[in-house]
Amino acid sequence: MNTAKALLIGCDHAGYQMKEVIKEYLTALGHAIEDVGTDSETSVDYPDYGNRLARQIVDGRYDRGILICGTGIGMSMVANRYPEIRAALCNDLFSAIMCRRHNDANVLVMGGRVIGTELAKEIVRAWLDTPFECGRHQNRLDKFCEM
Ligand code: RB5
Repeated sequence: MNTAKALLIGCDHAGYQMKEVIKEYLTALGHAIEDVGTDSETSVDYPDYGNRLARQIVDGRYDRGILICGTGIGMSMVANRYPEIRAALCNDLFSAIMCRRHNDANVLVMGGRVIGTELAKEIVRAWLDTPFECGRHQNRLDKFCEM
């Protein structure tokens, strides 16, 4: 797996249960995980946690992160407000693989109310294990900087 630094994980109340499962799964695989919260199913505002995670990647303290909310949509919107973040909402395995190969996604987002935890584990594993293909895809990512 290509995580040079610890992996960040964050969620809102709707993603809390899935976050706990994924944390345990990744820890068992030997990953160092830093959890930015939230820490319960008490209702919170997803932008607070999406921002907390995204800022630490923008600052260079971490390379990659995982965000979970109810649908994954809100967290994706928040994370993608930062030019340095390429957050991909992946509620299926194919997207998880392709967002690494073609988009070099540095944040994986999932919907805790959309998919089950077993699929979420497979998605996370595929996202972590799949390298970026560079080449023409790097040219395309370079164009993000012109926006
Ligand atoms: C919380 O109810 C829900 O709106 C949130 O988890 C997320 O799905 C937003 O996009």
